[in-house]
Amino acid sequence: MTSHDYLSELFALDGRVAVVTGGSSGIGRAIAGALARAGASVVIVARREPELAATVAELTADGCRAAWVSADLSTREGVRAAAERAVEPFGEPDILVNSAGINLRPPMGELDDEVWDTTMTVNLEAPFLLGRRFGPGMAERGFGRIIHISSQQAHRAFVQSGAYGVSKGALEALARSQAEAWSPHGVTCNTLVPGFVMTPLNTRLSADPEKVAALAARTMIGRNGLAEDFAGAAVFLAGRASGYVTGQAIFVDGGFSVH
Ligand SMILES: NC(=O)c1ccc[n+]([C@@H]2O[C@H](COP(=O)([O-])OP(=O)(O)OC[C@H]3O[C@@H](n4cnc5c(N)ncnc54)[C@H](OP(=O)(O)O)[C@@H]3O)[C@@H](O)[C@H]2O)c1
Repeated sequence: MTSHDYLSELFALDGRVAVVTGGSSGIGRAIAGALARAGASVVIVARREPELAATVAELTADGCRAAWVSADLSTREGVRAAAERAVEPFGEPDILVNSAGINLRPPMGELDDEVWDTTMTVNLEAPFLLGRRFGPGMAERGFGRIIHISSQQAHRAFVQSGAYGVSKGALEALARSQAEAWSPHGVTCNTLVPGFVMTPLNTRLSADPEKVAALAARTMIGRNGLAEDFAGAAVFLAGRASGYVTGQAIFVDGGFSVH
């Protein structure tokens, strides 16, 4: 057996179908690209069409199979519509990555019902509803991978965690509940936990060089995260190699959480 064959057996995603929410930007975009380049047919879901189209164009130019669905995951109806349209290009998914997320950060005393509801729907309910839609099919077919993206704010308060931290704490609990339900049928459910990653989500914080340097100093590696840092962990969690890893929160944070 060549090393290429061995690595393919562990990690290749040929023949798999993946749905990646938030796949048009930041961490989700890097993960969608990684899964597609590892062989999966990838459907990315987000709202803005130019970003979706540009991501898919880049992937198809690289010889990957990719498609996009424009949908708003901030309402239950939007999530249901997204799920139905996401299966059109390549069929039912084997891999679901929930990377779409928002962080609105109003001070706690001013956190209104609307911010609370929108945060919970995008960050928590969409992953639940998509899991309920796709998880049972994965279990029936005997293979599935559900990957959520949570946050250090699932574990500690940080820069007005507000509703965001609550939604991410619950998301890690959701991964454990899903893992309990479907792992006996070959469907693993895990969470990737970023530290501070330079993406459009953090534009305001990223514009302050002092804060950026202070956050980098809190890691062990000595720099803040990049979206590309999630490629390897996502391919691992999406493939056969991680078949005995389930219900876990895996920190990809340069050591931030343990420093
Ligand atoms: N960056 C960090 O430091 C960091 C740290 C911890 C956790 N995270 C988590 O990592 C995940 C990805 O974050 P990121 O930094 O990559 O953010 P990002 O670059 O802002 O990307 C967010 C993605 O979610 C999509 N999205 C947002 N609201 C949506 C909605 N209502 N319906 C459908 N799609 C929606 C966006 O597309 P549209 O706007 O076009 O819809 C975009 O594709 C999030 O869950 C975030 O909470 C990030």
